[in-house]
Amino acid sequence: MFTQVKRGLSKCVLLSLGVAFVVMPAWGQIPDKFTNLQVLPKDISKGGLLDMMKGFTSALGVRCQHCHIGEEGKPLTTFDFVSDTKETKQTARAMLRMVQAINNEHLAKIERKSADALQVNCITCHHGENHPPRALDEILFEITSAQGVQEAIKKYHELREKHFGGFAYDFREGTLNRLSQQLQAGGKNDDAIAILKLNTQVNPNSALAHFFLGEIYLAKGEKALAMENYKKALSLEPANPFAKRRLEELAKQ
Ligand code: HEC
Ligand code: HEC
Repeated sequence: MFTQVKRGLSKCVLLSLGVAFVVMPAWGQIPDKFTNLQVLPKDISKGGLLDMMKGFTSALGVRCQHCHIGEEGKPLTTFDFVSDTKETKQTARAMLRMVQAINNEHLAKIERKSADALQVNCITCHHGENHPPRALDEILFEITSAQGVQEAIKKYHELREKHFGGFAYDFREGTLNRLSQQLQAGGKNDDAIAILKLNTQVNPNSALAHFFLGEIYLAKGEKALAMENYKKALSLEPANPFAKRRLEELAKQ
C-alpha cells in the first residue's frame, strides 16, 4: 500500500512538474464521491478522508484491508471501501463515535488551561497496535500467576524484541521494579527475585532493582546476598540513602 503510494507520488510529481497537487495519486484509484459515510461529514474532502484513513492505519499498525475488502498488493481500484462487511470497519465506526464523544462532549466540559491540551485520538489508546496494549507489568503479573515466572520472563523478552524503542510498552526499569513489589506483596519472594534479576540484566544501571533485591534477600535472612546488592546499588547511585542505611545497619549486626 505505502510503496504503491510512494511510487504513485513520484510519478505524479514528475508529471505535474512541481505544480502543487492536493490528492495523493494512488488515491486516484479511489472514487471521488463517498456513499456510505455514517459518522464522518458527508461533504468531507477526499484529501481529508484519506488523511484520516492513513491516520487509522498508522495508529493501529494495520493496512486498509484490515477494515475494507481488498487484497494486499492489488490496486486500490479492486477494493470495496463502501461495504460494511468487515466487523473491524463497524468497530472503527463505533470508535470514531466514541472519540468524538470524548472530545466534543466530555473534554469540552472541562476547563482546559493549556492551548495544546490533548485531544483524544486513535493513537492515544492504540499506540500503533491493533489491540491497544495493556500495561507491561499487568501482562507479566497475570502470566506469573497463571503459568509461572519463567513464562513471564519469556514473554518479556518476546515483547522487548518486537517492541523496544516503540511506545506500546514501557521497558524502563520502573515496570519490572513495580512488578517485583507486587509479587513480593503477594508473598512470592522467589518470583520477585527472578523479575529483579531480569531487570538487572536488561537495565544494568538500575540501582533500585539492586536495592529491592537486597530487601528481599534481607527478608529471607540471606545477609551476604543482601549486602552484595546494597553495595551494588550504592556503587550505581552513591548518594542512595536507603542502601547506605541498610549497609550501616547490617555492619552493626
Ligand atoms: C481501522 C479501520 C479502517 C482502516 C484501517 C481504513 N479505513 Fe477506510 N473507513 C473506515 C470506516 C469506519 C469508514 C466509514 C466512516 C463513516 O462511516 O463515516 C471508512 C470509509 C472509507 C472510505 C469511504 C467509503 C464510502 O464511499 O463510504 C474510503 C474511500 C476509505 N475508507 C478508504 C480507506 C483507505 C484508502 C484506507 C487505507 C489507507 C483505509 N480506508 C483504511 C475504517 C477504516
Ligand atoms: C479510549 C481508548 C481508545 C481509543 C481512543 C480508540 N480505541 Fe479502538 N479499541 C480500544 C479498545 C479497548 C479496543 C478493544 C481491543 C481488544 O478487544 O483487544 C479497541 C478495538 C478497536 C478495533 C478492533 C480491533 C480488532 O481487530 O478487533 C478497531 C478497528 C479500533 N479499535 C479502531 C479504532 C479507531 C479507528 C480509533 C480512532 C478513531 C480508535 N480505535 C480509538 C480502545 C480505543
